[in-house]
Amino acid sequence: MTPIPLTFTDKLQEFNDCSESHKSAIDEITKEFEINTDKLKKISEHFRNEMNKGLEKHGQTVAMVPSYVTGIPTGKEVGTFLALDLGGTNLRMCQVNLEGDGKVSVRQQKYKVSDSLKNGEARHLFDYLADCVDKFLSEFNISSSAEDKLKLGFTFSFPVDQTAINKGSLIYWTKGYTAPGAVGKDVVFMLQDSLNRKVVPVEVTALVNDTVGTLLAHAYKHSNTLLGVILGTGTNGAYFEKISNIKKLKSFSSNADHMVINIEWGAFDNERKVLPLTMFDNKLDRKSNNPRKQALEKFISGMYLGEIARNVLLNLIDRTLLFDGFSSKDLNNQYYFETEYMSTIEADDTNTLEKTKRILEESLNLPSTTLTDRQIVKRVCQLVGLRAARLSAAALSAVISQCNVPESGCNIGIDGSLFLFYPSFKERIKRALKECLGPNADKIELDLAPDGSGVGAALAAMLSA
Ligand code: BGC
Repeated sequence: MTPIPLTFTDKLQEFNDCSESHKSAIDEITKEFEINTDKLKKISEHFRNEMNKGLEKHGQTVAMVPSYVTGIPTGKEVGTFLALDLGGTNLRMCQVNLEGDGKVSVRQQKYKVSDSLKNGEARHLFDYLADCVDKFLSEFNISSSAEDKLKLGFTFSFPVDQTAINKGSLIYWTKGYTAPGAVGKDVVFMLQDSLNRKVVPVEVTALVNDTVGTLLAHAYKHSNTLLGVILGTGTNGAYFEKISNIKKLKSFSSNADHMVINIEWGAFDNERKVLPLTMFDNKLDRKSNNPRKQALEKFISGMYLGEIARNVLLNLIDRTLLFDGFSSKDLNNQYYFETEYMSTIEADDTNTLEKTKRILEESLNLPSTTLTDRQIVKRVCQLVGLRAARLSAAALSAVISQCNVPESGCNIGIDGSLFLFYPSFKERIKRALKECLGPNADKIELDLAPDGSGVGAALAAMLSA
């Protein structure tokens, strides 16, 4: 097959045996998913403008939520706090012991959040959270009393309109949650109310986003941390902004210079001005439970990548260019082509793509596949995965340009399943960052910051005390 004249920096899967019509369909799709350097820079520029709009006024697309966390951890903080983390795949309850010297020990337990809790009445969800706190205290023998309540930092990883360190109302749900009865309500009040009714002696003293938690936890260990980022089921970032730049923060007085801002970048470009929307993205959005919301998140995050790839595969099936025009019941199901499969397929370096074959034929029950089919599937995964990493870099480069990167460089703390498990995600981001920022990108370390949100919530509970 003739090489495709594109500017991709990654080596893409090639095909040893395919027809002209295959070739032109694949070329066309490849072109649609390409984001060249100029486009990347344009997206990054627009992102920066949107950030500044969000700093100026309330209610903007990129919400730029003030976190009311003004202290930067010094690493010397000590104390024991509880943290409850809702918003990733699991619910996590932690007891965090800050030991000073950047050292920390954590005892934690994960709990499942069923689909019926995610989508049923919100008060059942908050009651369940209170039950998990209660269970955790008894399982780990942690004592507390009504007079001397334990302090808890609540990591709530959805867009909130935050008005104090311990106050914030939900703007809308994301990541597959729809529970009615929470939008517009103060989520700290809801959790505290459930804890009080169940007589659990715990006081919710801080509300933080997972990105804010990740930033604080990473800064506790690495003083030159600039940004906390989540690349997982959802995506978002938080950074330290000069308080004088947060124009919309009118009645806030503090001696501090900086405040952590939760960008809520998942909503970037809901207006569809710059993101390279394909018919596959539009189909995903149209069928999602939050159409025209979280535009950037739908290009980047683990919740959606598999579904975009599935939409491309179905299109090729319908044109009888894949699997001889056959699908399977599983592949026809929305969200059944999991992002995790893409990780395995992208990492499949066997000559005959055996791991890919297993996924397609055993997990998705396709009757049979040819090597060309599997090569096409791998190419599709690469296109979707690569575009996600490059768009993540566009967002990162905009935030980096907004901050002053010290001569000595800086760290970005990143958590989430994509960053942890998706092959080459980090390297792809690094390459795209270099395209956007030039040699300055070499001064920026992308660090894995695992499980930071629990520690971060504890730090916020402490900094707020
Ligand atoms: C939410 C953010 C969160 C991100 C990562 C998004 O869907 O809106 O608040 O930080 O997911 O969990």
